Amino acid sequence: MTTMTNADAAVIAPAAKATDPEILRRRTFAIISHPDAGKTTLTEKLLLFGGAIQLAGAVKARGERRRTRSDWMQIEQQRGISVTSSVMMFERAGIVYNLLDTPGHSDFSEDTYRTLSAVDAAVMVIDAAKGIESQTRKLFEVCRLRDIPIITFINKIDRPGEDPLTLFDDIASGLALDFVPMGWPIGMGPDFRGVVDLAGMRVLLPEEGERNAPFGRVVPIASLSDIAEIPGIDADIAARALEGVELAQGALSTFDLQAFREGHLSPVFFGSALRNFGVEQLLDALGNWAPGPLPRVAVQRTVYPGEDQVTGFVFKVQANMDPNHRDRIAFVRLCSGRFKRGMKLLHVRDGKYMTVSSPTLFFGQGRETADEAYAGDIMGLPNHGTLRVGDTLTEKEVLKFTGIPNFAPELLRRVIIEDAMKAKQLNRALDDLAEEGIVQVFTPIAGGRQILGVVGVLQFEVLQSRVKAEYGVPVSFEQAPVELARWISADDPAKLQKFVDAHRGEIATDRDGALVFLAESQWMLKYKGEKFPDIKFSALRERGE
Ligand code: G4P
Repeated sequence: MTTMTNADAAVIAPAAKATDPEILRRRTFAIISHPDAGKTTLTEKLLLFGGAIQLAGAVKARGERRRTRSDWMQIEQQRGISVTSSVMMFERAGIVYNLLDTPGHSDFSEDTYRTLSAVDAAVMVIDAAKGIESQTRKLFEVCRLRDIPIITFINKIDRPGEDPLTLFDDIASGLALDFVPMGWPIGMGPDFRGVVDLAGMRVLLPEEGERNAPFGRVVPIASLSDIAEIPGIDADIAARALEGVELAQGALSTFDLQAFREGHLSPVFFGSALRNFGVEQLLDALGNWAPGPLPRVAVQRTVYPGEDQVTGFVFKVQANMDPNHRDRIAFVRLCSGRFKRGMKLLHVRDGKYMTVSSPTLFFGQGRETADEAYAGDIMGLPNHGTLRVGDTLTEKEVLKFTGIPNFAPELLRRVIIEDAMKAKQLNRALDDLAEEGIVQVFTPIAGGRQILGVVGVLQFEVLQSRVKAEYGVPVSFEQAPVELARWISADDPAKLQKFVDAHRGEIATDRDGALVFLAESQWMLKYKGEKFPDIKFSALRERGE
């Protein structure tokens, strides 16, 4: 797999830089966090300040919490987790933001991985009371692998939390990431009095009753010691904050934009998504510092955003996104060019042209048909299953973008259908949900029932609930007689065929027709690997091959 990192891209970019201001003003990013750190709340506030929604979701409506669009699924609402990705576009101060929602649960890492393949930057949300948690670490590692620039947002400073210096230790030791604080909290929890914005030399103060405003009051300061003079900030709280603030200010000069864009250095903001603190600064940082659309690597060559011709790739497919539409949408990250509605695009895998007549852009509370879209944007293309994850679209060039993998599942089960008359609906459901990445479906070549694979057990619950809710088919699951699935390949097709012939009962095909070996145990897989050294057993497969 050829993966150009952002660091490589940052080096190459100047030579092939986009000049179209519409492309340059795009910022395409995702928020990564551990469940409960405040991703949903922050998303809401970003949309609110970006003018995409009018009402902060934290406001309770008829006793029921209004959720952002990213949490549309019933099961998510019940469980308070975000399990699918979607996209939200908004504009503020001349910058167009494309926010891609990533699932918060580790069981959906594959979906997350794909989503992160479509962004140019990430915001890492950390709960001030908890520091770096397991899921933050995992997602961070994916970002690191791709050198995605990361802005850190330490959230919930209005609650008792760890001391900022302890949190910094956690970031430095837990993630081995260099960082520079851009602000500092004045007290935390009950002592919370506000935030010092170091770069702007100002103090942001809370004001009661201003739920939907960026923050309460802004007090400019000439020097840091002025903090102690601000009415409402007790002397001892100011004195304690000052120590840290001075340290942080000393570090400010070490902020290096290039290092940030190469993914090696993270600016850190302190804030409270719930109380609107730090959200605007975060948006400003994204607007000012995060890179515009970066080049993307295809098997044939690197594609630059400023190129005339439109290219893009499908990183996600979502079925039944809106129960009223019952449609299926392929999310396409545009990699180059200026898209115009009605354009004919080549679906490279199929070799066929498709007229893109109703491309959709997604906003906070709705979607609109797009007349134009630019490199960096995410377009939704309604389709009936022709577009799959990993597919490339171009105007005419034969290209294949890389970097969208399938991971071997960790749990394998067989589906039990309660009403045999509904087998057809079940197949359709499995096909749709496999495309979304909720499940992988393996069909034994020797016949017999399909085997379903997932990365985490929660996916089976989501599958069960969605198959029932969206397709009207009640199902349950049983243990499969196999434990592991590995894609198989060989340099010599005859040797692969021989292996397949000798193991017909243990071979299946995935949704794309790729061959998979189903092993009854880890030991068996190892044994076969030793006995058949010409066969490659792989836990990863690049999509669209
Ligand atoms: P997630 O998407 O990362 O899972 O987190 P989410 O935004 O749903 O936030 C998890 C909980 O943390 C919510 O409380 C939310 O209100 C709270 N929260 C988020 N940001 C802040 C903050 O800056 N300060 C404080 N004090 N709390 C914050 P909940 O009780 O689970 O939900 P709800 O009853 O408030 O809706």
